Amino acid sequence: MNISTSKEFLENYQASQNQLKDFWLKECKNYEWKTFPTQALEGSFAELPVKWFSDGVLNITENCLDRHARQTPNKVAIIYEDNDPNEDSLKITYKELLERVSRFANVLKDHNIKKGDTVCFYMSMVPELLVGVLACARIGAVHSVVFGGFSAAALANRIQDCAATVVVTCDVGERGAKAIPLKKVVDEAIEQCPLVKSVLVFSRDQNISLGKGEQNLLELLNKAVPICAPVHIGAEDPLFILYTSGSTGKPKGLLHTSGGYMVWVGETFKNIFQYKEGDIFWCTADIGWITGHSYMVYGPLLNGATQVMYEGLPNWPDSRRFWQVIDKHKVTHFYTAPTAIRALEAAGEAYVQGNDLSSLKVLGSVGEPINEEAWQWYNKNVGHGRCPIVDTWWQTETGGIMISSLAGVTASIPTYATKPFPGVFPALMSQDGNELTNTEAEGPLCITQPWPGMARTIYKDHARYEQTYFSTYKGKYFTGDGARRDRDGNYRIIGRIDDVVNVSGHRIGTAEVEDAINQHDCLVESAVIGAPHDIKGQCLVAFAIATQSAHGKTAEELLQKVNAFIAESIGPIAKLEQLYLVSGLPKTRSGKIMRRVLRKAVEQDKKTLGDTSTLVNPEIVDEIFKMVEKNAPHRA
Ligand code: WT7
Repeated sequence: MNISTSKEFLENYQASQNQLKDFWLKECKNYEWKTFPTQALEGSFAELPVKWFSDGVLNITENCLDRHARQTPNKVAIIYEDNDPNEDSLKITYKELLERVSRFANVLKDHNIKKGDTVCFYMSMVPELLVGVLACARIGAVHSVVFGGFSAAALANRIQDCAATVVVTCDVGERGAKAIPLKKVVDEAIEQCPLVKSVLVFSRDQNISLGKGEQNLLELLNKAVPICAPVHIGAEDPLFILYTSGSTGKPKGLLHTSGGYMVWVGETFKNIFQYKEGDIFWCTADIGWITGHSYMVYGPLLNGATQVMYEGLPNWPDSRRFWQVIDKHKVTHFYTAPTAIRALEAAGEAYVQGNDLSSLKVLGSVGEPINEEAWQWYNKNVGHGRCPIVDTWWQTETGGIMISSLAGVTASIPTYATKPFPGVFPALMSQDGNELTNTEAEGPLCITQPWPGMARTIYKDHARYEQTYFSTYKGKYFTGDGARRDRDGNYRIIGRIDDVVNVSGHRIGTAEVEDAINQHDCLVESAVIGAPHDIKGQCLVAFAIATQSAHGKTAEELLQKVNAFIAESIGPIAKLEQLYLVSGLPKTRSGKIMRRVLRKAVEQDKKTLGDTSTLVNPEIVDEIFKMVEKNAPHRA
């Protein structure tokens, strides 16, 4: 697919509608396969499992690396920008990247990693993370990257769940002025992970003390041979597992396979961003999230792009940092999250001005709904009104972008993700579970047909996969989001309608936070909800019943204690903004917490509170509303 006009977009969309299977088989031709697939789609949402290109055989790294190393060996693949602005940036060509990946792959082989084995990465944004992930793919192993903000307990759960035998980490990760002790967290985590045989430690300054089973990664890489033959795997063989939060219970390990994912991220990257030869792409996401997997590791490399990889923060040493990096490397495509845009907007325009942003051609947004004000600010102050903005809606589960405009080809509309990509067929659902047929409509967002990039299962829990995504609406994939469609068929994503909260673009399950804080000896029971937040988009607010041990402590003191506890059991990203100590939680006769009451209380909106007659304790509603209104530090 090489869409460059709105007419071509329509033609492609129609072609995907008419002949979904042929459409995607044709797109497979843009990639190198050991055995070209003859099958496109098998199965359906009504008859799982879904498979794509199942008789195809390939290695995704041949497509990301070898073909470019052959054709354009000296083209820069990665421009690495250190956390510290005084450090030199590093350029890695396609030829060098292939060599680095091959070395790393050989190190993994030396540690007994074979096709199908899982390697866990817990690192900061250093080139070795990207290299390591590709090294897994090189030898048919499965990578599972855990974001460096998760705690030892959360990391241990994930390592155990995906049965990793090798963990790769950094001694410290640099984020702004902070040094994050990643290895220390790994050391603590693997005490509970009997399967882990080796820990490979990356260290910048080579000043590390290694314990039993720990090895110095750089030393091993330097000794390794820079050639490693790719292991060809089936298109439906696993490529990676990535954990994300759900509305219930523990995190879900979404499993993505190699062939369909490759075609999906390759085609969406090329057409949505309209990346052209000579452009410099920069996605600011961490590889610990799906955005980093799809639009830093795989999408750009599949397309032979040159991209910036940056370790640090948007606002360190000050809020000029992003804009300076754009200026320094003449970035043409900038892809970031609304929360970063809002934070930089709040810092003030002076920080943007004074940097030459004239290289920019395309701006992107991802991770949460972008509000009108942030959109306009981004457009005016960063894009100077001449860069199309792609507001890209997708999920860890979808593998790649699903709904977005194509930069400069189809219209960008503030706060609208706009149109589905070819091969994506959205549906909005009614209260009674039927598809809304009017063009103008609003409701839960589903996808009606499989697409190549979709996650195939939840690792080791296929029943949960079917239950979570395919049981609410028969024969459809339910996204968990609500959306609105305007009369021209443009989609606007409203946000999650399940118990998942999007804090600074990071997905957090309220149930997971509740499970954690209920174990704190000061709290008996709690309900956590998402509340609107100016910069973060949403934040976490808890209503909880305190125990005897909380007596004498103020809500402020308790909040601090509980947050320290959350930081240990999940990670600092799941910290509460607010903790209300209540005498009871609004419960129905069946014992279910009526979260709607809590959400409405936070919004101080009694008008649309709705029916509370099924509550066993209706008197609690007033107490909660008043408490939020006063924002009262309640004495337990
Ligand atoms: C949830 C998925 C997509 C990769 C990063 C997040 C929200 C994502 C948008 C957007 C409105 C968005 C949705 C979605 N979301 N992009 N452009 N507009 N909302 O991946 O952690 O799996 O979260 O992020 O609520 O369901 P994720």
